[in-house]
Amino acid sequence: MRMVDIIEKKRDGHPLTKEEIQFFIDGYVKGDIPDYQASAFTMAVYFKGMNEEETSYLTDAMMHSGDMIDLSGIEGIKVDKHSTGGVGDKTSLAVGPLVAACGGKVAKMSGRGLGHTGGTLDKLESIPGVRILRTSEEFVKQVNDIGIAIVGQTAQIDPADKKLYALRDVTATVESIPLIASSIMSKKLASGSNAILLDVKFGSGAFMKTKERARELAKEMVKIGKLLGRDTRAILTDMDQPLGLAVGNALEVKEAIDTLKGNGPRDFVELCIGAGATMLTQAKLAPDVIVGRAMIEKAIEDGSGLAKLRQLIEAQNGDPTYIDDPSKFPLAKYIEPIYSESEGYVRHIDSLGIGVGAMKLGAGREKMDDTIVMSAGIVLNKKVGDKVNKGDILCYCHTDKEDRQAIYKDIHDCFVLSPDFVARPPIIHEVID
Ligand code: URA
Repeated sequence: MRMVDIIEKKRDGHPLTKEEIQFFIDGYVKGDIPDYQASAFTMAVYFKGMNEEETSYLTDAMMHSGDMIDLSGIEGIKVDKHSTGGVGDKTSLAVGPLVAACGGKVAKMSGRGLGHTGGTLDKLESIPGVRILRTSEEFVKQVNDIGIAIVGQTAQIDPADKKLYALRDVTATVESIPLIASSIMSKKLASGSNAILLDVKFGSGAFMKTKERARELAKEMVKIGKLLGRDTRAILTDMDQPLGLAVGNALEVKEAIDTLKGNGPRDFVELCIGAGATMLTQAKLAPDVIVGRAMIEKAIEDGSGLAKLRQLIEAQNGDPTYIDDPSKFPLAKYIEPIYSESEGYVRHIDSLGIGVGAMKLGAGREKMDDTIVMSAGIVLNKKVGDKVNKGDILCYCHTDKEDRQAIYKDIHDCFVLSPDFVARPPIIHEVID
């Protein structure tokens, strides 16, 4: 088999066989196939697409390119949740403990943030001492002991995705549904859960800018998951404004704690309840989402979700007193309001701009080896649908940066006002199963 023939076949729009796709992934991971051929291949896929079988062959080859986490030592149905990446997305920190508090087995593999989106691992590490689990043995033991564990993605899991994703990032081939679907699903499937809930975001801060594209991606991933034997479902959620109010690592952890205490922002609470309810039905702990919702609501009301987060932090070596008393989180040097220069109803908040703004204030990384300031970020004071008068506070910026006025100006401009009434949008638009 020759890589050039495989590229030519895809360039001319023909479907590839399982063997051809396997040949590409094996050769690329080993280094026998050079980046220039892999780039030509991904560009051919970008333009010609892949059918369902090809996408599942690609996913299967990628997920087997490295270690597979074996969760068979955990009794019951293991559930995982994955978001395609958003701004202010701290959902795993609240939903994971809520589902575990209801008896679910939450085996969560998480990543770090890059660019305008944050990562669960970074957020967790804003609590002193927190250690991200590294081995399958620790992972399995902790899920058995307390129902929830968060493991970091290691270099041994899905090396094909690591190489391909880095290549796609610099060859303008990220925005391809078969490539995104196989990238996400291969990692999720390698991490061993039986049931997967995908939170597919759409809007200005998401990979998928429209609901239609998000639906296409969600359907593709649900099909792959099912073809490969996992109960896979998806929710389509709004990223036309940041999720909740807080954007930035420690700020988001504090918001997750507030939410588990029953004081979360409306959209975030709704997402936690909706996602948690679906996960409970996937875990067969609830017969339907109505019962699932009631169970999650109860875990918020009776504090068992918060107690589970505390247990998780303690089990992963973190200081649980930060959960009891979030005022212990260090604050940024400057906490300053941004005032509205006009009046109206908030029609849109550019999530991408807020994500980039938070990153520039110190909350994120432009390059993978940049360090982040845990206390930095943005806390919104207005959301879509809110009435704003001139001089009202739109948000608060938290930063240690001396040189910050230009960043503040860009953050101010992320709020788009309309003279007409704007209704508050729902957070979950569709469920795909
Ligand atoms: N997230 C991933 O893990 N992979 C993609 O291709 C896009 C988003």
